[in-house]
Amino acid sequence: MKITCLRACHPPPLLLHSRTCHTILSPPAWRRLRSPTLSSTKRLLARAPNATTTTTNDGSVLREGIAEFYDESSSLWEDIWGDHMHHGYYNPDSSVSVSDHRAAQVRMIEEALRFAIFVVQMINNNLSTEKPERVVDVGCGIGGSSRYISRKFGAKCLGITLSPVQAQRANALAAAQGLADLVSFQVADALEQPFPDGQFDLVWSMESGEHMPDKKKFVSELARVAAPGAVIIIVTWCHRDLAPSEQSLQQWEKELLNKICNAYYLPAWCSTADYVELLQSLSLQDIKAADWFQYVAPFWPAVIRSALTWKGLTSLLHSGLKTIKGAFAMPLMIEGYKKDLIKFSIITCRKPRDSEDGGKKQWQ
Ligand SMILES: C[S@@+](CC[C@H](N)C(=O)[O-])C[C@H]1O[C@@H](n2cnc3c(N)ncnc32)[C@H](O)[C@@H]1O
Repeated sequence: MKITCLRACHPPPLLLHSRTCHTILSPPAWRRLRSPTLSSTKRLLARAPNATTTTTNDGSVLREGIAEFYDESSSLWEDIWGDHMHHGYYNPDSSVSVSDHRAAQVRMIEEALRFAIFVVQMINNNLSTEKPERVVDVGCGIGGSSRYISRKFGAKCLGITLSPVQAQRANALAAAQGLADLVSFQVADALEQPFPDGQFDLVWSMESGEHMPDKKKFVSELARVAAPGAVIIIVTWCHRDLAPSEQSLQQWEKELLNKICNAYYLPAWCSTADYVELLQSLSLQDIKAADWFQYVAPFWPAVIRSALTWKGLTSLLHSGLKTIKGAFAMPLMIEGYKKDLIKFSIITCRKPRDSEDGGKKQWQ
């Protein structure tokens, strides 16, 4: 298995793990949540911060909280930022005008595809790229990625979200844009996806992994629904990798992440290295990881600025307590980034073709 580590940093952040690199990001605001369900990666659980919320063993409180948060906040977000609920990708050397932010969010999709396409090129041993024909958008928001990818490749895209309001809005936008035959959205849990095995040749998770209370189950489901040879792209918030001498994050780091969990309805965080280990444990191939913080750095300050406009403030006041609580936590994300605790990670891999699998099929 080949693992590639690309970093997009300048100045480069501290590299704490020999195999992977990473960094932060994040969009609007959410609520609290708690630590993950039982995972086979005990070390991951042992060192993850304990979020302070209460939830049931089956995670239903968390799911309901996430659904309510996005039901409540999605129209505000769409009104101010458009149909992508993810970070923008910025050229670190250029200044950014406000109108650039929506373009930067589209650039994030393009750059993530480009990053993963290297996987395809390596496999095929030539420079051609394979067009995905069947795509799943796991944690789809109001479907911005699906519609973009569908238009770009002519692909069929299926999106899932916990929020009924998002699914309805995503379908309405698809119909309005003449894409109803190609893309559709439904309410479903990423940890129990309503799809048979081996359906999709691109599995896309853009800034939803941070909400998943069981990262092993999350990654296993991504791998299960991927067709042999499919590319899997995960863009997500992680905490920093631990140094070899460390067993866990420092106390102040756990406390800061807990505050963010409580504000944004996130479960315990993991590192990029943890994701790489999970992908390896499933025999996924051509694993690559990078920290894109340098490329997303202008995003959070821009979100805060947009919240401080008259339109932003009045919309926020009308949007509900969950959204307001999240808005107050935005500076915590910036603090986490500045202190090199939070990483904005892209992790990509490929599911082996049947001939490459050696009969393992560990994702099933
Ligand atoms: C920050 S938004 C990102 C939306 C979208 N990927 C985008 O880039 O615009 C996070 C999304 O993850 C979804 N999500 C969180 N946990 C989920 C779960 N367990 N199953 C399905 N979707 C989930 C939320 O409903 C929301 O749509």
